Amino acid sequence: MNDRFIKACRRERSEATPVWFMRQAGRFLPEYRKIREKHSLMDICKDPDLCAEVSTLPVDVLDVDAAILFADIMLPLEGMGVKFEITDGVGPVILSSLNDFQSVNSLTNLDPDSDVPFVMEAISATKKKLDSRVPLIGFCGAPFTLASYLIEGHATRDYVKTKKLMYKDPKTWHLLMDKLSTSMGLYLRAQVNAGVDAVQLFDSWVGCLSPSDYRKYALPYSRRVFSYLKDLATPCIHFGTGTAAILDEMKQAGGDVFSIDWRIPIDVAWQKLGYDVAIQGNLDPAVLLADSNLVKAQVADILMRVGNKPGHIFNLGHGILPDTPKDNVRQVVEFVHEQTKARA
Ligand code: CP3
Repeated sequence: MNDRFIKACRRERSEATPVWFMRQAGRFLPEYRKIREKHSLMDICKDPDLCAEVSTLPVDVLDVDAAILFADIMLPLEGMGVKFEITDGVGPVILSSLNDFQSVNSLTNLDPDSDVPFVMEAISATKKKLDSRVPLIGFCGAPFTLASYLIEGHATRDYVKTKKLMYKDPKTWHLLMDKLSTSMGLYLRAQVNAGVDAVQLFDSWVGCLSPSDYRKYALPYSRRVFSYLKDLATPCIHFGTGTAAILDEMKQAGGDVFSIDWRIPIDVAWQKLGYDVAIQGNLDPAVLLADSNLVKAQVADILMRVGNKPGHIFNLGHGILPDTPKDNVRQVVEFVHEQTKARA
């Protein structure tokens, strides 16, 4: 097995810096678009063989050092009683958004084996198809980010409805976060039991909170999700965007690897977090729309800032954009491997 990714999660040295990309199996890949012509996103997620095919695509065509299970952060919420659709170009749309105690109280806690058996089957099928080439990453949405979708009904810019409920109706907020954190903890644990080699907690929208609100309204619940994996050796990645001001707080919530966006230089972020954790991310996904020389210069800058410290996983600060040229993505993988091999 190519174990560069797992080694980096544990801050151990390997012969080259591992690379993978969030949304590496997305619409920028012609092979993915072809499958999507015939199948909806949810169809793919619920068909273990198709899911395994899509999850392994990037390993075959990009030579990345890890696969991520093809799924969506909203997928398990169906099992809790949430009705939603995933709309092209928009993302998840909740059919009846949650905004009072009654609607939150009616959500059930997730029972992964009976509510989402297809995810566990997809993990087995993907592991088989990967045939020990690279590790498989499982994931879930963090309680705050999931709550924001459930309350707003869709992605927004300012999260006003979410914050209003959080401030005005803390009893309902804490009940919702309690259910989401318990359910996601059980969900990640079930994924590990089914065979994933690492997990990532996606808190995509948490950067809209002040440090003190993060501590009060989000931190205890992200911490609780990680607590379900405490007795396991599985590496945990903690991801967010716009998090430069809350890195200390996120670290207190837990994680072995911290995934940062491009709004903070990677060396500054790592210094803030401390070198007892590994680091991932940082390249602005929009850079991959540029010419090859600019891409290389920005990748080289990240590698230079990291230096020779073990515990770096090369990734973008957020998901690959749909218009990204495949060749640029391949080139980043090659360039990172080549540059860091030469250094070792
Ligand atoms: O990273 C991967 O390759 C694994 C697959 C994956 C998907 N969603 C598939 C998907 C992962 C890890 C996710 C997580 C996810 N989903 C997050 C957290 C990461 C992030 O990007 O912040 C969030 C916030 C969602 C919710 C969601 N689902 C959004 C914002 C969108 C994009 C809407 C759009 O059309 O641009 C989706 C749909 C979705 N999930 C797509 C993919 C590949 C794209 C649409 C499609 O192929 O139909």
